[in-house]
Amino acid sequence: MSRTYEYIEVSIEGAIGVVMLNRQKVLNAINRPMVTEIVTVIEEFDRDDEVKVIVLSGKGRAFAAGADIDEMAEATAIELELLNQFTEWDRLAWVKKPIVGAVQGFALGGGFELALCCDILFAAHDAEFGFPEISLGVMPGAGGTQRLTKLMGKSKAMEWLLTGDRMSADEALHHGVINRVVAKELLMEETMKFARKIGKQAPLSLRLIKESVHKAVDYPIYEGMQFERKNFYLLFASKDQKEGMRAFKEKRKPNFEGE
Ligand code: CAA
Repeated sequence: MSRTYEYIEVSIEGAIGVVMLNRQKVLNAINRPMVTEIVTVIEEFDRDDEVKVIVLSGKGRAFAAGADIDEMAEATAIELELLNQFTEWDRLAWVKKPIVGAVQGFALGGGFELALCCDILFAAHDAEFGFPEISLGVMPGAGGTQRLTKLMGKSKAMEWLLTGDRMSADEALHHGVINRVVAKELLMEETMKFARKIGKQAPLSLRLIKESVHKAVDYPIYEGMQFERKNFYLLFASKDQKEGMRAFKEKRKPNFEGE
């Protein structure tokens, strides 16, 4: 990745594409060009054969303290409607490779919404999640009311969204919002270890499992099961299915190629 970015840092470490939010003076507050950079590079990683898993994190003392309030404070409703800026975020939902988020410090408002676009979330002990939009006279606009409710259920989500209270990492874990809480100094190490672990799995399986799990959230169970079954059948068209099952019979480790 030779291109330079203004608001993020990007690297490829082995099979892992890493995106670090880097606007530390304002706690990685997310402005529109930053969203464009994040979405563009994640889509590039999604198309890059070298990359198996994507890791998203933030530099400094926050993952991200929300959408950039300075950028939107004076906006009018019509400007926002015409700009329709949040459709760009929707593109993250179409990314096929797993995205593992590593959250330290604040993940508030749009920062929490960005974290909720990840498939797996690790958080440092000091992480604080919340939707403070209510105290700004607005509400989440990039998926917060929908994704949090699907994760923790209506009653709990209602409480966090209406109060704007911050959720600790342990509370987020308790409510099934995140996968793991780790010591702050080990956050990236543990996240990368997990990313490398799943990065060794058959890439097409990773892809279709991710897609199927997402369908489970939105589809009635029977439709979801049909979707799952078609994906299961589809994998029998791959070389990796032959290799995986042959390796099992030959009592050796499979060598997956993503085909
Ligand atoms: N937008 C713009 N600037 C922000 C920001 C944001 N969301 N969050 C923090 N900053 C800036 C601060 O203005 C401050 O800048 P200056 O040094 O120039 O004053 C700098 O980052 C450091 O912040 P603080 O001095 O406030 O640091 P703190 O440790 O005292 O407090 C905080 C940290 C509790 C996160 C506090 O900064 C805060 O409450 N931030 C706003 C959080 C918020 O309301 N987020 C939701 C935004 S709306 C949204 O996201 C809508 C949506 O759905 C997409």
